[in-house]
Amino acid sequence: MTTAHYLDQIAAAVEHRLREITAAPPGPYALVKEAMEYLLFAGGKRIRPSLCIASAEACGGDTDLALTYGCALEMIHTYTLIHDDLPAMDNSPLRRGRATCHVVYGDAQALLAGCGLLTWAYEVMARPGVEGRVDPAIAVRIIAETSHAIGWSGTMGGQSLDMIFTLRGQASVEELELMENAKTAKLLIAAIRNGALLARANDQALARLTTFGEKIGLAFQVADDVLDVTADEAKLGKPVGADVQQGKTTYADRLGLDGARAFARQLLDEALAAIASFDAQADHLRGLARFIVERAY
Ligand code: IPE
Ligand code: IPE
Ligand code: MG
Ligand code: MG
Ligand code: MG
Repeated sequence: MTTAHYLDQIAAAVEHRLREITAAPPGPYALVKEAMEYLLFAGGKRIRPSLCIASAEACGGDTDLALTYGCALEMIHTYTLIHDDLPAMDNSPLRRGRATCHVVYGDAQALLAGCGLLTWAYEVMARPGVEGRVDPAIAVRIIAETSHAIGWSGTMGGQSLDMIFTLRGQASVEELELMENAKTAKLLIAAIRNGALLARANDQALARLTTFGEKIGLAFQVADDVLDVTADEAKLGKPVGADVQQGKTTYADRLGLDGARAFARQLLDEALAAIASFDAQADHLRGLARFIVERAY
């Protein structure tokens, strides 16, 4: 199966599982629930669930459970996008090919929709432990690790640094690496580790997959920075040139387009080397890594 086909298959499975998760009638909370689902069901590449599932697969684990945990990560990711686009942050009008959540529902409901998706994701991660479908100790570990990955020294911390560097008007390469690792790589690493934890991977496999995640997580944001300059807006589904317009320091701006692409390629090689000892069960993971980097070419 090609990686494109694999991604399509997972996107359909994610859509289906998310429909199940969100099936409850909204009662009096129709507006905020609609605002949450507005962006959740607007497509998106579903990279985080794909990495979670492919990582479980690489370790011989249950991919159906990984799909559920992947959906929780997609809810968290969607919350970060809603907040990232707010006027107080990147002030963006377009996301996943649609008007952004705050443009349609207003800043207050968008802020709340983000918080709603974040908290709901925790229910989704806890539920299999409560219902005995996952060892509760594993569910709790996944919840703890995911919280750490997206908190003040993870996604949120990285977003905070992004705002600080944007206000300041520049950042060093070291600061850029710190910020991009925190705001983007850590959630991707969590996706990979969650899949491996569900599959009860041993410490050595977990360590190798973590290195893979660190490399490919950073490469993902380097590619995103390149695409902000080179992509076609209709295809990207979000504004092109937004980073330059806002004076953001990115890899595209610090290293130049070719330099950033070469850096992403180097990270890809390092990521693949980290999992070289895995057998063919890790081929989907390898394909996803190539996709993440090669889409910026
Ligand atoms: C965009 O993430 C935000 C970043 C972390 C760069 P994606 O490129 O995964 O966005 P979707 O989910 O496909 O819309
Ligand atoms: C956002 O980085 C990362 C998170 C949402 C945490 P960007 O601001 O570069 O993402 P896009 O380009 O708007 O998707
Ligand atoms: Mg941003
Ligand atoms: Mg943004
Ligand atoms: Mg970007």
